[in-house]
Amino acid sequence: MSAHRFSPAFIAAALGASAACGQVAPPPPGPNLYRIPFAAFPLPGDNQPSPQRLELGRLLFFDPILSANHQVACATCHKPHLAMADGLPVGAALADPAGGDLPRASPTIFNIRFQHVLFWDGRARSAEDLALQPIQNPKEMGNTIEQALQELGAVPDYRQRFAQAYGGLDASTLQRAIACFISSVTANDAPADRYLQGDSTAMSAEAVAGFNLYFGKARCSRCHYVPIFAGTEGPSFTETEFRVTGVPERGVFPRRLTADRGRAGVAGIEEDPSTLHAFKAPTLRNITYTAPYMHNGAFSTLEEVVDFYDKGAGPGQGYAVPNLDPVMRQGPLFLSDAEKQSLLTFLREGLTDLSTLPVAPNAVPSGLTVGGVAGKK
Ligand code: HEC
Ligand code: HEC
Repeated sequence: MSAHRFSPAFIAAALGASAACGQVAPPPPGPNLYRIPFAAFPLPGDNQPSPQRLELGRLLFFDPILSANHQVACATCHKPHLAMADGLPVGAALADPAGGDLPRASPTIFNIRFQHVLFWDGRARSAEDLALQPIQNPKEMGNTIEQALQELGAVPDYRQRFAQAYGGLDASTLQRAIACFISSVTANDAPADRYLQGDSTAMSAEAVAGFNLYFGKARCSRCHYVPIFAGTEGPSFTETEFRVTGVPERGVFPRRLTADRGRAGVAGIEEDPSTLHAFKAPTLRNITYTAPYMHNGAFSTLEEVVDFYDKGAGPGQGYAVPNLDPVMRQGPLFLSDAEKQSLLTFLREGLTDLSTLPVAPNAVPSGLTVGGVAGKK
Protein backbone atom coordinates (compact mmCIF):
# COMPACT_ATOMS: atom_id res chain seq x y z
CA MET A 1 0.00 0.00 0.00
CA SER A 2 1.33 3.46 -0.87
CA ALA A 3 2.13 5.89 1.94
CA HIS A 4 -0.99 7.71 3.10
CA ARG A 5 -1.09 11.47 3.09
CA PHE A 6 -2.52 12.24 6.47
CA SER A 7 -0.38 14.03 8.99
CA PRO A 8 0.23 12.17 12.27
CA ALA A 9 -1.92 14.79 14.03
CA PHE A 10 -4.76 14.03 11.61
CA ILE A 11 -4.64 10.32 12.30
CA ALA A 12 -4.32 10.92 16.02
CA ALA A 13 -7.29 13.27 16.00
CA ALA A 14 -9.33 10.84 13.91
CA LEU A 15 -8.52 8.08 16.33
CA GLY A 16 -9.52 10.19 19.28
CA ALA A 17 -6.15 11.24 20.68
CA SER A 18 -6.71 14.95 21.03
CA ALA A 19 -3.42 15.52 22.84
CA ALA A 20 -1.42 15.49 19.61
CA CYS A 21 -2.36 18.97 18.41
CA GLY A 22 0.81 21.04 18.40
CA GLN A 23 1.52 23.27 21.39
CA VAL A 24 -1.98 23.10 22.82
CA ALA A 25 -2.04 21.46 26.21
CA PRO A 26 -4.09 18.27 26.38
CA PRO A 27 -7.59 18.96 27.66
CA PRO A 28 -8.24 18.05 31.28
CA PRO A 29 -9.73 14.60 31.92
CA GLY A 30 -13.51 14.24 31.95
CA PRO A 31 -16.09 15.93 29.73
CA ASN A 32 -14.79 19.16 28.25
CA LEU A 33 -17.58 21.23 26.80
CA TYR A 34 -15.30 23.87 25.33
CA ARG A 35 -13.20 21.73 23.06
CA ILE A 36 -14.93 18.91 21.18
CA PRO A 37 -14.40 15.90 23.47
CA PHE A 38 -13.49 13.37 20.77
CA ALA A 39 -13.44 10.50 23.22
CA ALA A 40 -17.04 11.17 24.22
CA PHE A 41 -18.25 10.16 20.76
CA PRO A 42 -17.74 6.44 20.37
CA LEU A 43 -17.59 5.35 16.74
CA PRO A 44 -19.66 2.33 15.68
CA GLY A 45 -18.03 -0.86 16.95
CA ASP A 46 -17.74 -2.32 13.46
CA ASN A 47 -16.21 0.82 11.99
CA GLN A 48 -13.26 1.76 14.18
CA PRO A 49 -10.81 3.83 12.14
CA SER A 50 -7.49 2.42 11.02
CA PRO A 51 -4.99 3.95 8.57
CA GLN A 52 -6.13 1.42 5.90
CA ARG A 53 -9.80 2.28 6.37
CA LEU A 54 -9.21 6.04 6.37
CA GLU A 55 -7.07 5.85 3.26
CA LEU A 56 -9.60 3.65 1.44
CA GLY A 57 -12.40 6.06 2.37
CA ARG A 58 -10.33 9.00 1.18
CA LEU A 59 -9.68 7.37 -2.20
CA LEU A 60 -13.40 6.58 -2.61
CA PHE A 61 -14.31 10.15 -1.68
CA PHE A 62 -12.17 11.55 -4.48
CA ASP A 63 -12.94 8.84 -7.06
CA PRO A 64 -15.68 9.49 -9.67
CA ILE A 65 -15.97 5.72 -10.18
CA LEU A 66 -18.87 5.88 -7.71
CA SER A 67 -20.98 7.91 -10.19
CA ALA A 68 -22.83 6.46 -13.17
CA ASN A 69 -21.21 8.87 -15.64
CA HIS A 70 -17.74 8.60 -14.03
CA GLN A 71 -17.59 12.38 -13.74
CA VAL A 72 -18.82 13.06 -10.24
CA ALA A 73 -16.97 12.30 -7.00
CA CYS A 74 -18.03 13.21 -3.47
CA ALA A 75 -15.22 15.78 -3.65
CA THR A 76 -16.87 17.42 -6.66
CA CYS A 77 -19.38 18.95 -4.24
CA HIS A 78 -17.30 18.81 -1.06
CA LYS A 79 -14.01 20.42 -2.09
CA PRO A 80 -11.02 20.73 0.25
CA HIS A 81 -10.11 24.24 -0.89
CA LEU A 82 -13.65 25.38 0.03
CA ALA A 83 -13.58 23.71 3.47
CA MET A 84 -15.54 20.75 2.04
CA ALA A 85 -18.37 22.79 0.50
CA ASP A 86 -18.64 23.74 -3.20
CA GLY A 87 -19.04 27.51 -3.43
CA LEU A 88 -22.43 27.25 -5.19
CA PRO A 89 -25.76 28.61 -3.87
CA VAL A 90 -27.23 25.12 -4.37
CA GLY A 91 -25.50 21.99 -5.63
CA ALA A 92 -25.30 21.28 -9.37
CA ALA A 93 -27.19 18.16 -10.58
CA LEU A 94 -24.11 16.77 -12.30
CA ALA A 95 -25.28 13.20 -12.78
CA ASP A 96 -28.59 14.25 -14.28
CA PRO A 97 -28.40 14.39 -18.10
CA ALA A 98 -30.94 17.23 -17.92
CA GLY A 99 -28.54 19.21 -15.70
CA GLY A 100 -30.07 21.82 -13.41
CA ASP A 101 -29.78 22.29 -9.68
CA LEU A 102 -30.09 20.25 -6.54
CA PRO A 103 -32.75 21.56 -4.18
CA ARG A 104 -30.22 22.65 -1.53
CA ALA A 105 -26.70 23.91 -0.85
CA SER A 106 -23.78 21.50 -0.32
CA PRO A 107 -22.77 21.92 3.33
CA THR A 108 -19.32 21.38 4.76
CA ILE A 109 -18.74 17.91 6.18
CA PHE A 110 -16.55 19.13 9.06
CA ASN A 111 -17.57 17.54 12.37
CA ILE A 112 -20.56 15.64 11.01
CA ARG A 113 -19.45 12.84 13.32
CA PHE A 114 -20.80 14.78 16.29
CA GLN A 115 -24.13 15.86 14.88
CA HIS A 116 -26.37 12.78 15.11
CA VAL A 117 -28.64 13.92 12.30
CA LEU A 118 -27.39 14.92 8.87
CA PHE A 119 -28.64 16.91 5.89
CA TRP A 120 -30.33 20.27 6.31
CA ASP A 121 -33.54 18.51 7.34
CA GLY A 122 -31.93 15.80 9.44
CA ARG A 123 -33.24 12.90 7.36
CA ALA A 124 -30.00 10.87 7.79
CA ARG A 125 -29.20 9.57 11.24
CA SER A 126 -25.44 8.97 11.01
CA ALA A 127 -22.47 9.04 8.66
CA GLU A 128 -23.11 5.35 7.99
CA ASP A 129 -26.77 5.98 7.26
CA LEU A 130 -25.84 8.78 4.86
CA ALA A 131 -22.83 7.24 3.09
CA LEU A 132 -24.58 5.36 0.27
CA GLN A 133 -27.31 7.94 -0.36
CA PRO A 134 -25.38 10.35 -2.65
CA ILE A 135 -24.34 7.39 -4.86
CA GLN A 136 -28.00 6.52 -5.46
CA ASN A 137 -29.37 10.04 -5.65
CA PRO A 138 -30.28 10.47 -9.35
CA LYS A 139 -29.11 14.08 -9.34
CA GLU A 140 -25.89 13.58 -7.32
CA MET A 141 -24.11 10.45 -8.59
CA GLY A 142 -27.03 8.75 -10.35
CA ASN A 143 -25.74 5.24 -9.75
CA THR A 144 -26.90 1.99 -8.18
CA ILE A 145 -24.99 0.27 -5.40
CA GLU A 146 -24.85 -2.93 -7.49
CA GLN A 147 -23.20 -1.07 -10.35
CA ALA A 148 -20.76 0.73 -8.04
CA LEU A 149 -19.76 -2.56 -6.36
CA GLN A 150 -19.29 -4.26 -9.70
CA GLU A 151 -17.01 -1.51 -11.00
CA LEU A 152 -15.03 -1.27 -7.77
CA GLY A 153 -14.60 -5.05 -7.80
CA ALA A 154 -13.08 -4.84 -11.27
CA VAL A 155 -10.20 -2.68 -9.95
CA PRO A 156 -7.56 -4.93 -8.33
CA ASP A 157 -6.24 -2.11 -6.12
CA TYR A 158 -9.71 -1.58 -4.61
CA ARG A 159 -10.26 -5.33 -4.14
CA GLN A 160 -7.01 -5.52 -2.23
CA ARG A 161 -7.66 -2.40 -0.14
CA PHE A 162 -11.19 -3.57 0.81
CA ALA A 163 -9.80 -6.99 1.74
CA GLN A 164 -7.11 -5.45 3.94
CA ALA A 165 -9.34 -2.83 5.57
CA TYR A 166 -12.62 -4.72 5.98
CA GLY A 167 -12.05 -8.29 4.88
CA GLY A 168 -13.87 -7.83 1.56
CA LEU A 169 -16.01 -5.64 -0.68
CA ASP A 170 -19.78 -5.45 -0.33
CA ALA A 171 -22.44 -2.81 0.26
CA SER A 172 -21.80 -2.76 4.00
CA THR A 173 -18.03 -2.32 3.69
CA LEU A 174 -18.44 0.35 0.99
CA GLN A 175 -20.79 2.19 3.32
CA ARG A 176 -18.41 1.85 6.26
CA ALA A 177 -15.31 2.93 4.31
CA ILE A 178 -16.99 6.15 3.17
CA ALA A 179 -18.44 6.78 6.63
CA CYS A 180 -15.08 6.14 8.31
CA PHE A 181 -13.40 8.79 6.20
CA ILE A 182 -16.10 11.48 6.40
CA SER A 183 -16.35 10.96 10.16
CA SER A 184 -12.64 11.72 10.45
CA VAL A 185 -12.99 15.22 8.98
CA THR A 186 -12.99 17.05 12.28
CA ALA A 187 -11.79 20.41 13.53
CA ASN A 188 -11.45 21.53 17.11
CA ASP A 189 -8.33 23.64 17.27
CA ALA A 190 -9.55 27.02 16.06
CA PRO A 191 -8.47 30.22 17.84
CA ALA A 192 -11.86 30.22 19.61
CA ASP A 193 -11.10 26.76 21.04
CA ARG A 194 -7.76 27.91 22.37
CA TYR A 195 -9.32 31.06 23.77
CA LEU A 196 -12.02 29.03 25.52
CA GLN A 197 -9.28 26.84 26.95
CA GLY A 198 -7.77 29.87 28.63
CA ASP A 199 -5.26 31.17 26.09
CA SER A 200 -6.11 34.87 26.15
CA THR A 201 -3.71 35.58 23.27
CA ALA A 202 -5.40 33.15 20.87
CA MET A 203 -7.66 35.77 19.25
CA SER A 204 -7.25 39.44 18.29
CA ALA A 205 -8.98 42.08 20.43
CA GLU A 206 -11.60 42.58 17.72
CA ALA A 207 -12.36 38.86 17.55
CA VAL A 208 -12.71 38.79 21.35
CA ALA A 209 -15.22 41.64 21.10
CA GLY A 210 -17.08 39.62 18.46
CA PHE A 211 -16.90 36.51 20.64
CA ASN A 212 -18.61 38.45 23.45
CA LEU A 213 -21.32 39.63 21.06
CA TYR A 214 -21.78 36.05 19.78
CA PHE A 215 -22.51 34.85 23.31
CA GLY A 216 -24.42 37.99 24.31
CA LYS A 217 -26.18 40.75 22.42
CA ALA A 218 -26.12 39.01 19.01
CA ARG A 219 -27.74 35.80 20.42
CA CYS A 220 -25.86 33.50 18.02
CA SER A 221 -24.94 31.06 20.80
CA ARG A 222 -28.63 30.52 21.51
CA CYS A 223 -28.74 28.18 18.50
CA HIS A 224 -25.14 27.56 17.33
CA TYR A 225 -23.75 25.94 20.48
CA VAL A 226 -20.19 25.42 21.67
CA PRO A 227 -18.18 23.34 20.93
CA ILE A 228 -19.49 22.37 17.49
CA PHE A 229 -20.98 25.83 16.87
CA ALA A 230 -24.06 24.03 15.54
CA GLY A 231 -27.46 23.03 16.93
CA THR A 232 -26.03 19.98 18.68
CA GLU A 233 -26.29 20.46 22.41
CA GLY A 234 -23.95 19.45 25.17
CA PRO A 235 -23.31 17.91 27.57
CA SER A 236 -24.69 14.69 26.09
CA PHE A 237 -24.58 15.79 22.42
CA THR A 238 -27.46 13.47 21.62
CA GLU A 239 -29.85 16.06 20.17
CA THR A 240 -29.45 18.29 17.15
CA GLU A 241 -31.96 21.12 16.95
CA PHE A 242 -34.01 22.37 14.00
CA ARG A 243 -35.03 26.02 14.18
CA VAL A 244 -37.21 28.38 12.19
CA THR A 245 -35.38 31.57 11.27
CA GLY A 246 -37.41 32.45 8.15
CA VAL A 247 -34.67 32.50 5.49
CA PRO A 248 -35.89 34.06 2.21
CA GLU A 249 -36.09 32.48 -1.21
CA ARG A 250 -32.82 33.10 -3.04
CA GLY A 251 -32.77 35.89 -5.62
CA VAL A 252 -36.48 36.79 -5.38
CA PHE A 253 -37.47 40.43 -4.76
CA PRO A 254 -39.46 41.63 -3.00
CA ARG A 255 -38.33 39.03 -0.53
CA ARG A 256 -40.56 36.09 0.34
CA LEU A 257 -40.19 33.15 2.69
CA THR A 258 -38.37 30.05 1.40
CA ALA A 259 -40.70 27.48 -0.15
CA ASP A 260 -38.52 24.66 1.24
CA ARG A 261 -40.49 22.88 3.97
CA GLY A 262 -37.28 21.84 5.72
CA ARG A 263 -37.76 19.42 8.58
CA ALA A 264 -41.49 19.19 7.77
CA GLY A 265 -40.61 17.49 4.48
CA VAL A 266 -39.21 14.42 6.25
CA ALA A 267 -41.55 11.42 6.33
CA GLY A 268 -43.19 10.96 9.70
CA ILE A 269 -42.44 14.53 10.83
CA GLU A 270 -44.80 16.51 8.61
CA GLU A 271 -47.69 16.49 11.07
CA ASP A 272 -45.82 18.70 13.54
CA PRO A 273 -46.50 22.35 12.52
CA SER A 274 -43.47 23.64 14.42
CA THR A 275 -41.21 21.88 11.90
CA LEU A 276 -42.42 23.82 8.84
CA HIS A 277 -39.37 25.64 7.33
CA ALA A 278 -37.23 24.44 10.26
CA PHE A 279 -33.62 23.59 9.40
CA LYS A 280 -30.70 22.14 11.26
CA ALA A 281 -28.66 24.92 12.85
CA PRO A 282 -25.48 24.18 10.88
CA THR A 283 -21.92 24.37 12.14
CA LEU A 284 -20.24 27.76 11.83
CA ARG A 285 -16.73 26.29 11.92
CA ASN A 286 -14.69 27.30 8.86
CA ILE A 287 -17.68 29.41 7.82
CA THR A 288 -15.47 31.93 6.04
CA TYR A 289 -14.80 29.35 3.28
CA THR A 290 -18.29 27.96 2.74
CA ALA A 291 -20.20 30.83 1.07
CA PRO A 292 -22.92 31.18 -0.15
CA TYR A 293 -24.92 30.62 3.01
CA MET A 294 -28.14 28.94 4.21
CA HIS A 295 -29.91 25.81 2.90
CA ASN A 296 -30.61 27.59 -0.41
CA GLY A 297 -27.59 29.88 -0.71
CA ALA A 298 -29.87 32.89 -0.11
CA PHE A 299 -26.95 35.01 1.15
CA SER A 300 -23.67 35.44 -0.71
CA THR A 301 -21.61 36.93 2.10
CA LEU A 302 -21.31 36.78 5.88
CA GLU A 303 -22.13 40.51 5.91
CA GLU A 304 -25.56 39.68 4.45
CA VAL A 305 -26.04 36.93 7.03
CA VAL A 306 -25.25 39.26 9.93
CA ASP A 307 -27.59 41.93 8.47
CA PHE A 308 -30.34 39.31 8.21
CA TYR A 309 -30.07 38.47 11.91
CA ASP A 310 -29.57 42.12 12.89
CA LYS A 311 -32.87 43.08 11.26
CA GLY A 312 -34.72 40.35 13.17
CA ALA A 313 -34.37 37.38 10.76
CA GLY A 314 -37.39 36.52 8.52
CA PRO A 315 -39.83 39.22 9.68
CA GLY A 316 -37.09 41.83 9.15
CA GLN A 317 -37.27 40.95 5.43
CA GLY A 318 -40.87 42.14 5.28
CA TYR A 319 -42.89 38.93 5.42
CA ALA A 320 -44.62 36.98 8.16
CA VAL A 321 -43.18 33.76 9.59
CA PRO A 322 -46.05 32.32 11.66
CA ASN A 323 -44.00 29.73 13.56
CA LEU A 324 -40.86 31.84 14.01
CA ASP A 325 -38.36 30.65 16.61
CA PRO A 326 -38.84 32.26 20.06
CA VAL A 327 -35.28 33.65 20.05
CA MET A 328 -36.05 35.47 16.79
CA ARG A 329 -39.30 36.77 18.22
CA GLN A 330 -37.19 38.98 20.45
CA GLY A 331 -36.75 41.17 17.37
CA PRO A 332 -33.83 43.05 15.80
CA LEU A 333 -30.40 42.98 17.42
CA PHE A 334 -29.57 46.70 16.98
CA LEU A 335 -25.88 46.04 16.38
CA SER A 336 -23.76 49.10 15.54
CA ASP A 337 -21.54 48.97 12.45
CA ALA A 338 -18.52 48.44 14.70
CA GLU A 339 -20.26 45.57 16.49
CA LYS A 340 -21.16 43.91 13.19
CA GLN A 341 -17.53 44.20 12.17
CA SER A 342 -16.34 42.59 15.40
CA LEU A 343 -18.82 39.75 15.04
CA LEU A 344 -17.63 39.14 11.47
CA THR A 345 -14.02 39.12 12.63
CA PHE A 346 -14.87 36.53 15.25
CA LEU A 347 -16.65 34.31 12.71
CA ARG A 348 -13.77 34.54 10.24
CA GLU A 349 -10.77 34.49 12.53
CA GLY A 350 -12.04 32.71 15.62
CA LEU A 351 -13.75 29.73 13.98
CA THR A 352 -11.20 28.79 11.32
CA ASP A 353 -9.20 25.59 11.72
CA LEU A 354 -8.08 23.88 8.55
CA SER A 355 -5.26 21.94 10.19
CA THR A 356 -6.91 18.60 9.39
CA LEU A 357 -8.32 19.50 5.98
CA PRO A 358 -8.28 16.39 3.77
CA VAL A 359 -5.72 16.37 0.97
CA ALA A 360 -6.67 15.03 -2.46
CA PRO A 361 -4.72 11.95 -3.53
CA ASN A 362 -2.44 12.30 -6.58
CA ALA A 363 -4.31 9.49 -8.29
CA VAL A 364 -7.31 7.25 -7.57
CA PRO A 365 -7.31 3.47 -8.17
CA SER A 366 -9.82 3.69 -11.05
CA GLY A 367 -7.42 5.91 -13.00
CA LEU A 368 -10.27 8.42 -13.49
CA THR A 369 -9.85 12.16 -12.84
CA VAL A 370 -9.23 12.82 -9.12
CA GLY A 371 -12.21 14.70 -7.69
CA GLY A 372 -14.27 14.19 -10.85
CA VAL A 373 -14.32 16.00 -14.17
CA ALA A 374 -16.60 18.74 -12.94
CA GLY A 375 -14.46 19.06 -9.84
CA LYS A 376 -11.61 21.06 -11.33
CA LYS A 377 -12.23 24.61 -10.16
C1 HEC B 1 -23.75 16.82 -6.75
C2 HEC B 1 -23.25 17.31 -5.48
C3 HEC B 1 -22.99 16.34 -4.36
C4 HEC B 1 -22.30 15.15 -4.41
C5 HEC B 1 -21.72 14.47 -5.61
C6 HEC B 1 -22.23 14.69 -3.04
N1 HEC B 1 -22.84 15.57 -2.20
FE1 HEC B 1 -22.90 15.46 -0.19
N2 HEC B 1 -24.27 16.94 -0.15
C7 HEC B 1 -24.69 17.67 -1.24
C8 HEC B 1 -25.85 18.47 -0.89
C9 HEC B 1 -26.61 19.41 -1.80
C10 HEC B 1 -26.11 18.19 0.48
C11 HEC B 1 -27.27 18.74 1.32
C12 HEC B 1 -28.51 17.92 0.99
C13 HEC B 1 -29.67 18.18 1.92
O1 HEC B 1 -29.45 18.60 3.06
O2 HEC B 1 -30.82 17.91 1.55
C14 HEC B 1 -25.08 17.24 0.91
C15 HEC B 1 -24.95 16.79 2.21
C16 HEC B 1 -23.93 15.94 2.63
C17 HEC B 1 -23.63 15.61 4.00
C18 HEC B 1 -24.37 16.13 5.22
C19 HEC B 1 -23.67 17.27 5.91
C20 HEC B 1 -24.47 17.85 7.05
O3 HEC B 1 -23.96 18.70 7.77
O4 HEC B 1 -25.63 17.45 7.28
C21 HEC B 1 -22.59 14.73 3.99
C22 HEC B 1 -21.92 14.09 5.18
C23 HEC B 1 -22.26 14.48 2.60
N3 HEC B 1 -23.07 15.25 1.80
C24 HEC B 1 -21.30 13.58 2.17
C25 HEC B 1 -21.18 13.19 0.84
C26 HEC B 1 -20.48 11.99 0.38
C27 HEC B 1 -19.77 11.00 1.29
C28 HEC B 1 -20.60 11.95 -0.97
C29 HEC B 1 -20.12 10.87 -1.91
C30 HEC B 1 -20.53 9.51 -1.62
C31 HEC B 1 -21.35 13.14 -1.36
N4 HEC B 1 -21.70 13.84 -0.25
C32 HEC B 1 -21.63 13.50 -2.67
C33 HEC B 1 -24.12 17.63 -2.50
C34 HEC B 1 -23.35 16.56 -2.97
C1 HEC C 1 -32.98 30.75 16.45
C2 HEC C 1 -31.78 30.01 16.17
C3 HEC C 1 -30.64 30.75 15.50
C4 HEC C 1 -29.97 31.90 15.93
C5 HEC C 1 -30.31 32.75 17.14
C6 HEC C 1 -28.90 32.11 15.00
N1 HEC C 1 -28.90 31.14 14.04
FE1 HEC C 1 -27.64 31.04 12.46
N2 HEC C 1 -28.75 29.50 11.69
C7 HEC C 1 -29.82 28.89 12.29
C8 HEC C 1 -30.45 27.98 11.37
C9 HEC C 1 -31.65 27.09 11.65
C10 HEC C 1 -29.72 28.08 10.18
C11 HEC C 1 -30.05 27.37 8.85
C12 HEC C 1 -31.20 28.16 8.24
C13 HEC C 1 -31.48 27.87 6.78
O1 HEC C 1 -30.61 27.38 6.07
O2 HEC C 1 -32.61 28.18 6.34
C14 HEC C 1 -28.64 29.02 10.42
C15 HEC C 1 -27.67 29.34 9.49
C16 HEC C 1 -26.61 30.20 9.73
C17 HEC C 1 -25.52 30.44 8.81
C18 HEC C 1 -25.33 29.75 7.46
C19 HEC C 1 -24.44 28.54 7.61
C20 HEC C 1 -24.18 27.81 6.33
O3 HEC C 1 -23.40 26.84 6.33
O4 HEC C 1 -24.76 28.15 5.28
C21 HEC C 1 -24.69 31.35 9.40
C22 HEC C 1 -23.40 31.91 8.82
C23 HEC C 1 -25.27 31.69 10.68
N3 HEC C 1 -26.43 30.97 10.85
C24 HEC C 1 -24.71 32.58 11.58
C25 HEC C 1 -25.37 33.04 12.71
C26 HEC C 1 -24.94 34.19 13.46
C27 HEC C 1 -23.71 35.00 13.17
C28 HEC C 1 -25.87 34.36 14.45
C29 HEC C 1 -25.92 35.47 15.46
C30 HEC C 1 -25.98 36.83 14.90
C31 HEC C 1 -26.88 33.33 14.30
N4 HEC C 1 -26.53 32.54 13.23
C32 HEC C 1 -28.00 33.18 15.10
C33 HEC C 1 -30.28 29.16 13.58
C34 HEC C 1 -29.94 30.29 14.30
